[in-house]
Amino acid sequence: MKQFDFVVIGSGIAGLSFALKAAKHGSVAVVTKRKRADSNTAWAQGGIACVSSDEDSFELHIRDTLEAGAGLCDEQVVRTIVTEGPERIRELVEIGLHFDEREVSGHRELDLGKEGGHSKRRVLHVQDVTGLEIEKTLLRELERSDNVQLLENHMAVDLITAGKLGFATEDRCLGVYVLDEETQAVETIRTDRLVLATGGCGKVYLYTTNPDIATGDGVAMAWRAGAVIANMEFIQFHPTCLFHPDAKSFLVSEAVRGEGGILRNSRGEDFMHRYDRRESLAPRDIVARAIDAEIKRLGAKCVYLDITHRSPEFLRERFPHIYETCLRFGVDMAKQPIPVVPAAHYQCGGIKTDVNGATTLPGLYAIGEVACTGLHGANRLASNSLLEGIVVAHRACEAAIRAQPPSHPARAIDLPEWQSGDVQNVDELVVIYHNWNEIRRVMWDYVGIVRTDKRLQRASARLRNLQREIREFYWNFKVSVDLLELRNLATVAALIVDSALSRKESRGLHYTLDHPQLVDSEFKHDTLISRT
Ligand code: SIN
Repeated sequence: MKQFDFVVIGSGIAGLSFALKAAKHGSVAVVTKRKRADSNTAWAQGGIACVSSDEDSFELHIRDTLEAGAGLCDEQVVRTIVTEGPERIRELVEIGLHFDEREVSGHRELDLGKEGGHSKRRVLHVQDVTGLEIEKTLLRELERSDNVQLLENHMAVDLITAGKLGFATEDRCLGVYVLDEETQAVETIRTDRLVLATGGCGKVYLYTTNPDIATGDGVAMAWRAGAVIANMEFIQFHPTCLFHPDAKSFLVSEAVRGEGGILRNSRGEDFMHRYDRRESLAPRDIVARAIDAEIKRLGAKCVYLDITHRSPEFLRERFPHIYETCLRFGVDMAKQPIPVVPAAHYQCGGIKTDVNGATTLPGLYAIGEVACTGLHGANRLASNSLLEGIVVAHRACEAAIRAQPPSHPARAIDLPEWQSGDVQNVDELVVIYHNWNEIRRVMWDYVGIVRTDKRLQRASARLRNLQREIREFYWNFKVSVDLLELRNLATVAALIVDSALSRKESRGLHYTLDHPQLVDSEFKHDTLISRT
């Protein structure tokens, strides 16, 4: 059995920031299921929203966040995260991150981007590869620490809790079982402070901007361990994913609209003014729904993002990654509008935590996209997530250090080894792939941007059947990454559907034709689910 003072699952901005700080106080393991840089963070294009100019203010950033969140943000959490942002940004700069600057009247200042729902320019960025640069900077710093073990190709299987070991008194997290993909052995890791930083669940949908790793592992494990999960119905669809048969998941950043990009329908009409006064820069829930409506109204396959009025030099300099990628797929964004469609992008709900990342299960913290702190409410304001990642990671680290080692009786016993019995290797991978595809198709068709009770009920029935089959698989075959991811996806899909079914109103990202109104009197609260 391995033992660490802190164990972090996930290696995006939140997990790495936590690990860097925790390493100054004890031993840290960072468990990551692929290579160290494989994370949602590395794919983030837009940047980090943070008040950093005289034209802006904390109050405006707070107001924009609350407005996007459609009545469900926790104002105190929003205030804390927004106001502590500049300090955390300074730390990123100190360890070598260079945000883009521009020349203004003979001096250099930050080149701030604009995205949907922001009333001011406040998005710090590094061209259109902000997340990748953050990831590289944090990893470089982490690799210098002697206190950190980075366990790549290790996938967390399940949390070990006192409750599961039969302790009837206060439950707590004691550690985690982890599958080493190379040896195929499941290791037992003990810790008093376990941090889930596993990101979101975009792969639960057929079309997503997320990388393949986004399979909802953290939410599924926390739910199985009895932690409270919140607001899973609020899945954000990014309005502009490149529409091309071979371009899997390629995001065209909202920053393109921030620099003047206009959405046009298949007739070439600028349509957003018919849906919102902020037009192409309205919050994402509104833009994604408008695109969905235009596509359905005109029987089209996609809409178009037109930024041909900006010069090729500007586009190449500001959006080199998007420019090159579109070109590879035969679209020169300087000369022609980019074909785009909405795709699943961000999980606004997650494991319920306070602003210090503490979950309802003692010893377990959750930070980043996997958590639901109350910042995003019913719809996340663009580029607020990287900000939440660094601010809450810092607070969670301070809270975890402050927390005294518990005097729980379970700490005195050896944790049991993983039991795989005499089960076989999975003989037919086709079953896993079939179930995976079925979940993603069901979620896309029945639990997408526009929902109805009937579609949600259909999805629920299908998912229950799939979950039964997957459970059988799980108990009869050796665990593998594919099987574990499938099991987690099915769990998270069911949590999304159950949460959506319980919200009989339309709010933020949850829009249903059967209940199109906002009903504050009944539903102005988080949707909470737990297993126990
Ligand atoms: C984007 O660049 O459009 C994505 C930014 C975000 O999701 O916050």
